[in-house]
Amino acid sequence: MKNSKITHKITQGMYVLTTKGGGCVVDAVARVGNSGDQALIAVSVAKTNHSHKLLAGNEKFALSVLGEKVSPKIIQIFGFNCSKDCDKISQVKTKEVEDVPVLEDTLGYMVLEKVDAIDTGTHTLYIGKMIEGDLLNDGQPMSYAYYQEHKNDLAKVATEANKTAWVCTVCGYVYYGDEVPEDYKCPLCGLGKEYFKRKEK
Ligand SMILES: Cc1cc2nc3c(=O)[nH]c(=O)nc-3n(C[C@H](O)[C@H](O)[C@H](O)COP(=O)(O)O)c2cc1C
Repeated sequence: MKNSKITHKITQGMYVLTTKGGGCVVDAVARVGNSGDQALIAVSVAKTNHSHKLLAGNEKFALSVLGEKVSPKIIQIFGFNCSKDCDKISQVKTKEVEDVPVLEDTLGYMVLEKVDAIDTGTHTLYIGKMIEGDLLNDGQPMSYAYYQEHKNDLAKVATEANKTAWVCTVCGYVYYGDEVPEDYKCPLCGLGKEYFKRKEK
């Protein structure tokens, strides 16, 4: 038995990763140590995300920390859309720090410089050292468990007209199409077709 829901109990947070040109929601983030007085942070980015391509061409990226009261719009823009198809950065309040856009309606941000990139097959684990960072707003950081509990409100699926939406029952990812292909794997949590439920209109 492999019940993926146990992974929701790992205490980790919710962030928006940004780099020049776009970004995406990430939860696979950990502080993995310090290099001198600079924190080392690791983030795992799926190769299927456009942000992966953007990151390959940029030395710096940022993580903005989402609070429990964050506007669901931020999660919808950065977690359920592709930077290839839309300009995500212009849809939210941002400021440039070290040439990297960071989100202002969050608890704060860390700007990181890449120090290593580990290929894990489907993802690249980027390790960055923090070169800038600040607290912006008060609030409780959103944990991944909190997101899972509230995802019906936080990730309200705006179904595109004339398209059938299939929602991953584990992570909330949406697949559009008449049928989920037999060999389809959720780009977020890696689970197969049997985990997707058709969203009623
Ligand atoms: C709750 C949540 C957590 C996510 N965590 C990650 C993650 O840790 N790593 C990752 O690569 N994508 C993660 N994603 C998926 C990306 O945010 C999503 O696929 C996004 O649309 C990619 O945008 P892009 O193509 O512009 O990069 C997560 C999405 C959600 C909603």
